[in-house]
Amino acid sequence: MHLPTVLSVVFAAAGVTAQLNDLAVAAGLKYFGTCGSEGNINSDTTYRNILNNKSEFGQLVPENGQKWDATEPSRGQFTYSSGDIVAGVAKQNGQLLRCHTLVWYSQLPSWGNVTVSGGSWNRSTLQSVIETHINNVMGHYKGQCYAWDVVNEAVNDDGTWRPSVFLSTFNTDYFAISFRAAKAADPNTKLYYNDYNLEYNQAKTDRAVELVKIVQAAGAPIDGVGFQGHLIVGSTPSRSALATTLKRFTALGVEVAYTELDIRHSSVPASSSALVTQGNDFANVVGSCLDVAGCVGVTIWGFTDKYSWIPQTFPGQGDALLYNSNFGKKPAWTSVSSVLAAKATNPPPAQTTTLATITTAPPAQTTTTSRPAVSTTSAAAPGGAQQTRWGQCGGIGWSGPTACQSPWTCQVLNPYYSQCL
Ligand SMILES: *[C@@H]1O[C@H](CO)[C@@H](O)[C@H](O)[C@H]1NC(C)=O
Ligand SMILES: *[C@@H]1O[C@H](CO)[C@@H](O)[C@H](O)[C@H]1NC(C)=O
Repeated sequence: MHLPTVLSVVFAAAGVTAQLNDLAVAAGLKYFGTCGSEGNINSDTTYRNILNNKSEFGQLVPENGQKWDATEPSRGQFTYSSGDIVAGVAKQNGQLLRCHTLVWYSQLPSWGNVTVSGGSWNRSTLQSVIETHINNVMGHYKGQCYAWDVVNEAVNDDGTWRPSVFLSTFNTDYFAISFRAAKAADPNTKLYYNDYNLEYNQAKTDRAVELVKIVQAAGAPIDGVGFQGHLIVGSTPSRSALATTLKRFTALGVEVAYTELDIRHSSVPASSSALVTQGNDFANVVGSCLDVAGCVGVTIWGFTDKYSWIPQTFPGQGDALLYNSNFGKKPAWTSVSSVLAAKATNPPPAQTTTLATITTAPPAQTTTTSRPAVSTTSAAAPGGAQQTRWGQCGGIGWSGPTACQSPWTCQVLNPYYSQCL
């Protein structure tokens, strides 16, 4: 079996200059990505060139262009001029697209006297508004999105449900209504609940677990939970604590991802030791994703400190990203690169029985946005063991089960990692 191109490039570069997405894929993730800022893509060539580099970022998400106020500024009038900017870059470069977001209490449009948030709605009229919005927006991007953040930030930090027009009209029934509408609009995208501060595994996390259970109990589809990861230097949980929290969700049968990662300094400029701490914090977050079988990828919320939402929202804080304002790579970039490279270059000890299984049906190495090639493993696993959903079922050095429990199949994500999906 030959080394696929991506690994040759990664290892030829001795891990030093290898780019983040190449390393992430070699380490078993689907992608390492970033949000793209609509306003800067056509005005800043340096920014655009880095964003375009699929070896660095294999996945993009629009920062603002797909939000409700951008896509349906007037009731029933849909516009995609902003949403299409980042989607177009991803399409041009063959990068995966995460799509963001549909039902959220914030950045709702003003519709004269009938605002979504201020209108006097009953269940039937607001359900129609939600379904019309989801159907149109997801319909426009149908087939383009790896995942959609369907419901965003429905829980307060203290673990209560966040007040919104949706909660006051439907109580928690709006979750299932939204996920059902999303499934109908694009059955082939992953449907996510997305929120911040889930990383601390406290009351808010408990409530998000309940949210997933509510949707599942209603018989509605939910595929994933996004951990936004808006964190603070020096206050980021440990790698093992983060992995424990991620597993609370994968235990429910959903995948997880870090979707908006940035780790801000409480005051700027940061000292050189604070920059090192920031790097360790980033490595812990990315490492926790590598440690959890159902964690599919990491998305940072912008890559350069030149453009970030933090200084406006948290005055005096910032420098939360991997590149500085001059597009130089920070210590945190090196930390992320190192933790990915460590996993990519140090797979578990090889076992020939597993290698034989893998090489009988070599998959096409996918370097585009298409889904991984499916290799259905119907042969009985050694010892008859069958892996559960999201579990590892193959890869160089893997000695565990290679068959999946029904109805899941063993899908090859890269030479080092196959997963029951
Ligand atoms: C991506 O960036 C790396 C590192 O700067 C560079 O070597 C590579 O050529 C770039 N790829 C593309 C397609 O520009
Ligand atoms: C909801 O409001 C609409 C428009 O005002 C009205 O036609 C409809 O009868 C109401 N439905 C219920 C169940 O109250």
